Amino acid sequence: MATLTPCFLRIFAVLQLAACSFPEEPGPLISAPAEVVRRYPVFVGRAHRSYTRQEPLYIQTVLKVNRTLYIGARDDLYRVELDHVSGDEMFYSKKRTWESNKNDIRICRMKGKHEEECRNYIKVLLSHDGGLFVCGTNAFNPLCANYTRDTLELVGEPISGMARCPYDPKHANVALFAEGSLFTGTVTDFLAIDAVIYRSLGESPALRTIKHDSKWFREPYFVSAVEWGPHIYFFFREMAMEFNYLEKVMVSRVARVCKGDLGGSQRVLERQWTSFLKARLNCSIPGDSHFYFNLLQSTSPIIRMQGRDVILGVFSTPSNSIPGSAVCAFDMQQLARVFEGRFKEQKSPESIWTPVPDEQVPKPRPGGCAVQGSRFSSSNSLPDEVLNFIKTHPLMDEAVPLLGHRPWIVKTMVRYQLNTMVVDTEAGPHRNRTVVFLGSTRGTVLKFLITPSPENPYSNTNTFLEELEGYNPERCGDDSVQARQPLSLTLDKPSHTLLLAFHSCVVRVPVARCQLHSRCMKNCIASRDPYCGWTKGSTCSLLRPGTRLPFVQDVEYGNTSHLGDCDGEFVNLFGM
Ligand SMILES: *[C@@H]1O[C@H](CO)[C@@H](O)[C@H](O)[C@H]1NC(C)=O
Ligand SMILES: *[C@@H]1O[C@H](CO)[C@@H](O)[C@H](O)[C@H]1NC(C)=O
Ligand SMILES: *[C@@H]1O[C@H](CO)[C@@H](O)[C@H](O)[C@H]1NC(C)=O
Ligand SMILES: *[C@@H]1O[C@H](CO)[C@@H](O)[C@H](O)[C@H]1NC(C)=O
Ligand SMILES: *[C@@H]1O[C@H](CO)[C@@H](O)[C@H](O)[C@H]1NC(C)=O
Repeated sequence: MATLTPCFLRIFAVLQLAACSFPEEPGPLISAPAEVVRRYPVFVGRAHRSYTRQEPLYIQTVLKVNRTLYIGARDDLYRVELDHVSGDEMFYSKKRTWESNKNDIRICRMKGKHEEECRNYIKVLLSHDGGLFVCGTNAFNPLCANYTRDTLELVGEPISGMARCPYDPKHANVALFAEGSLFTGTVTDFLAIDAVIYRSLGESPALRTIKHDSKWFREPYFVSAVEWGPHIYFFFREMAMEFNYLEKVMVSRVARVCKGDLGGSQRVLERQWTSFLKARLNCSIPGDSHFYFNLLQSTSPIIRMQGRDVILGVFSTPSNSIPGSAVCAFDMQQLARVFEGRFKEQKSPESIWTPVPDEQVPKPRPGGCAVQGSRFSSSNSLPDEVLNFIKTHPLMDEAVPLLGHRPWIVKTMVRYQLNTMVVDTEAGPHRNRTVVFLGSTRGTVLKFLITPSPENPYSNTNTFLEELEGYNPERCGDDSVQARQPLSLTLDKPSHTLLLAFHSCVVRVPVARCQLHSRCMKNCIASRDPYCGWTKGSTCSLLRPGTRLPFVQDVEYGNTSHLGDCDGEFVNLFGM
């Protein structure tokens, strides 16, 4: 694997792409041998061993609810019990087929879509009200329906999936329930031109973003949505409008809306958000000329770290740039503060974008949440001036700063991008270590230990603990580049495993492979793996949280200078 030497990048300086300041990127402490990884359990859509599947699965989305994994695929919904492990395969306990009807397929085909596209790809899977809320593309005529969680029985009649689910299975979308309403980020039309953040169902009126207004959205790709305080935050990337470059530039964004928004007046922003604001996310490496990772790929949920609410994002560079990915962290307080800052505007189509002077911002401040009991207790009583301002000024001037002023993890000059992640903030026997698992477009998993620096709690160091093959081409039945792209990574803490979803399978990988070092204390300690420890009986064991077993580990330093060398360590790898 190529490691970047700082001045290699001087070559690119002419291109204004990067500076000489990339951090060193050491390789992993351990590369898990393929013969170990190949035996991990796989879900390939079977009920039992003698069952033969006819078609590939085309998995779109997965949802873990307690000890059950729900899998949304093409025309099928599966339920897999995570506690029923049986050797090298995970079987489903329930399958529900939800196909498009003949008429929907006929119309889809008539509109020129391919047979493969005119199927029902399940793109939304949410746990809600004791049931499952499911939406599928339904042959380019999206539908949503409720299913029971245990038997996957349809409840009631399906409803339209328009603005809740994309038409095209290739489109990215997000969905979440908050305060009884469904919040979605998707496209609302067949041609995928009208992007929307939409609220529906529940008690509150349905609201959307303005239609076909490039100030609000320009070809967005939705990544995630989270609830925090009175707002829902949406993370996405889109074409920038604020640079006067000739070529298109993609940037990463966070947008937010107030959960209590009731829409504008009959004159301005009726049935549209009055609280929609967005800001750029800054994931960059400082240096002579700043190097940006502009493409958000995935985020963590909001996690609690050292007393603050933090969200992590994996970003990459565009394909025509230096190949690279980075993990950046954002403090939710700092992020929210950006939305209290200055607005950005372009005075005329030719002029550059500049901050709006404070005196030109109407009062009450546009984009805020209406407060009960105040003069404007509802968004639809806001003055036209305020509503008009927010309609034309959704973009904030400042970018959301990254915590610690540099990425937590950087991987450049490798032939893959990092595109999925999951974080364990309670790793190790004392539940006080942070481990980040990253999935790459090659189907590999990278595991990093994050250690806050004692001098400066805003920054930290990372240790590249392990790299392993996550995708299993023999079992998953497809070895194309596309098939290796992970869709999601899910952590199942009770079983100490990761669930890696791909289009054709779900692979279950243990968080650590301690037993690889079982014959030798030195290797066990040197692995610095917070999940592993040297225990009585001279073995390297997976340590359960709160374990009472005495154990030895040295996660900080991996200091083995007092330990003897290992012989026959390789015998161990194959003989387990
Ligand atoms: C998950 O399990 C917990 C504890 O057993 C239970 O209280 C909770 O209701 C379950 N959640 C769901 C969504 O079933
Ligand atoms: C599904 O459940 C949601 C939330 O309870 C409800 O708003 C919706 O009407 C239900 N839809 C159907 C089709 O039953
Ligand atoms: C991004 O953050 C860096 C380092 O904190 C800063 O120097 C740079 O100006 C920021 N970029 C933007 C667009 O705000
Ligand atoms: C985690 O907890 C253990 C036991 O309380 C302590 O020895 C160790 O220093 C802690 N580590 C961190 C990183 O806080
Ligand atoms: C490693 O451990 C040895 C023996 O316990 C000790 O003398 C040495 O200072 C340690 N080294 C580091 C870098 O902590």
